[in-house]
Amino acid sequence: MKRALRRAALAGAAAIAASVLTDRAPYPYAQKWLLDVPLPLLTPHRLTELLRPGDGERMLEIGPGTGLQALHVAPRLGPDGELAVVDVQRQMLDHVTARAAERSIGNITPYRADARELPFADGQFDAAYLVTVLGEIPDAPAALRELRRVLKPDGRLAVGEFADRHYVPLTTLARLANDAGLHLRRRTGIPFAYYALLAPCAGSASARGASRPSAPGSSGRRETDAPPGQG
Ligand SMILES: C[S@@+](CC[C@H](N)C(=O)[O-])C[C@H]1O[C@@H](n2cnc3c(N)ncnc32)[C@H](O)[C@@H]1O
Repeated sequence: MKRALRRAALAGAAAIAASVLTDRAPYPYAQKWLLDVPLPLLTPHRLTELLRPGDGERMLEIGPGTGLQALHVAPRLGPDGELAVVDVQRQMLDHVTARAAERSIGNITPYRADARELPFADGQFDAAYLVTVLGEIPDAPAALRELRRVLKPDGRLAVGEFADRHYVPLTTLARLANDAGLHLRRRTGIPFAYYALLAPCAGSASARGASRPSAPGSSGRRETDAPPGQG
């Protein structure tokens, strides 16, 4: 009897561990309050120090959550710049746009889409970033290929990672990025809380199949869903 109980407890623990380790569900909106607490060493300020958003640039954020980074980055792009924010959860996008409106930030455009299939033509963005998002995406290599595709050849990409259950170690990121035609240029922070700066490898897009033909006559907005309030 004791042995059967122990076996059942072990099987239960293994099932829970497996579900936690393989879980790729998006971060629940119900726990949004936690997202407003900056993680040690992964502050929005450190992100902009690394990524250096420039006046008039077009930037892309994947998985903005409640806007911790977006509300810090967008004002640095100026009125002629744009921050496109992509998230699978409309509630997150609505949250970001409401907070932006409160602060009179008018250059954030939300797109409900999946990072694995971005609704943009090739070579649209000066820079892109994602913070504690990559490991949550069910196919991180596909997301990196898409980021490579939509970046300009001289574009830059910042990836922020923290040692939570979706953590992507720097060595794994460097390998996946390399496969996607991106190379590591710099890292800040410590191994368990880092920002990595990546850049497209010269001539990598076609060589590695990262490029996808854009739709004829595409304006760069192949949306899978209209921005909130417009669809
Ligand atoms: C842990 S939160 C991080 C939010 C924000 N970057 C921060 O640091 O506070 C992850 C975010 O990524 C979004 N997300 C998860 N999977 C995604 C996917 N496949 N494509 C786009 N966004 C995704 C979630 O909806 C959520 O907003």
